[in-house]
Amino acid sequence: MEVRDKLVVVTGAASGIGAACAGLFAAEAARRVVCADLDESGARTVARRINEALGRDLAVGMRCDVGQEDSVRSLIDEVGESDGVIDLYFANAGVASLSDPLTADEVWERAWRVNTMAHVWAARHLLPAWLDRGEGYLVTTASIGGILTALGDAAYTTTKHAAVGFAEWMAITYGDRGVRVSCLCPAGVSTPLLAVFTGVETAKDTVLRVAGDVMQPDEAARRVVAGIRDEATLILTHPEMQVFMERKVSDHGRWIGGMIRQWRLQREAQGPAGP
Ligand SMILES: NC(=O)c1ccc[n+]([C@@H]2O[C@H](COP(=O)([O-])OP(=O)(O)OC[C@H]3O[C@@H](n4cnc5c(N)ncnc54)[C@H](O)[C@@H]3O)[C@@H](O)[C@H]2O)c1
Repeated sequence: MEVRDKLVVVTGAASGIGAACAGLFAAEAARRVVCADLDESGARTVARRINEALGRDLAVGMRCDVGQEDSVRSLIDEVGESDGVIDLYFANAGVASLSDPLTADEVWERAWRVNTMAHVWAARHLLPAWLDRGEGYLVTTASIGGILTALGDAAYTTTKHAAVGFAEWMAITYGDRGVRVSCLCPAGVSTPLLAVFTGVETAKDTVLRVAGDVMQPDEAARRVVAGIRDEATLILTHPEMQVFMERKVSDHGRWIGGMIRQWRLQREAQGPAGP
């Protein structure tokens, strides 16, 4: 799908991949780009910068907490009332935490709501109009950690796996009814979220070894737009990750063994204080 003339909503648009994608959607002549984020002032700033760069009021910033169904519904309803049926909804907001089974339920709950349920709630409130008109495009951001693993963050790994599963289910179930679905699985992109992992200085080397070459959000956005143009069901920012995906499927035990070695290296670097 070309984003030209399309009504686009991006969540997590105040920062990182979402902000870069919002800018590129606007540059590709989308009709309107709604920048939604829990960080309302950040979302408005991104929208203002887009409008200043283009010299017209194309982008708008809005508050939305994607971890609350009411907030997701309000976003979709408000955009629908002012601009019509959303053409492309990019459910991109996400949270990471460095968690394990001992981590408090609130952390797991937040990851579940933001990384997974936000996609379900978006689909719930988008589908009626999309099925009615036989057209709609949902892009969800999971992670390469949702296919492989995110070392050091159990809640992220689990909820991103669920996000991949949901995107695949949606693509299969509504694929012959005009609803297209792409699941974006980034590897390392230089954003505040990546810093949750690399901020632990001793873990940095392992994280970066597993996350691939860290790219800038603008480059990730170019790959997202290319993936949407191709209507790719799976969009990888780092195509080289395909090799690890194939290794995981073809010899699961060997893949786990390799990841155990990576995790051991990380633990050794962290010393006795590590998880
Ligand atoms: N950066 C990477 O290396 C990487 C790798 C794999 C996947 N991802 C995924 O990419 C997506 C974008 O992350 P990013 O790297 O650009 O991070 P980022 O921290 O730059 O941006 C995330 C944005 O999501 C917003 N957000 C958080 N909780 C929210 C909520 N409840 N409601 C609305 N907005 C909320 C934040 O305010 C922030 O603006 C996330 O889903 C993340 O998991 C990133």
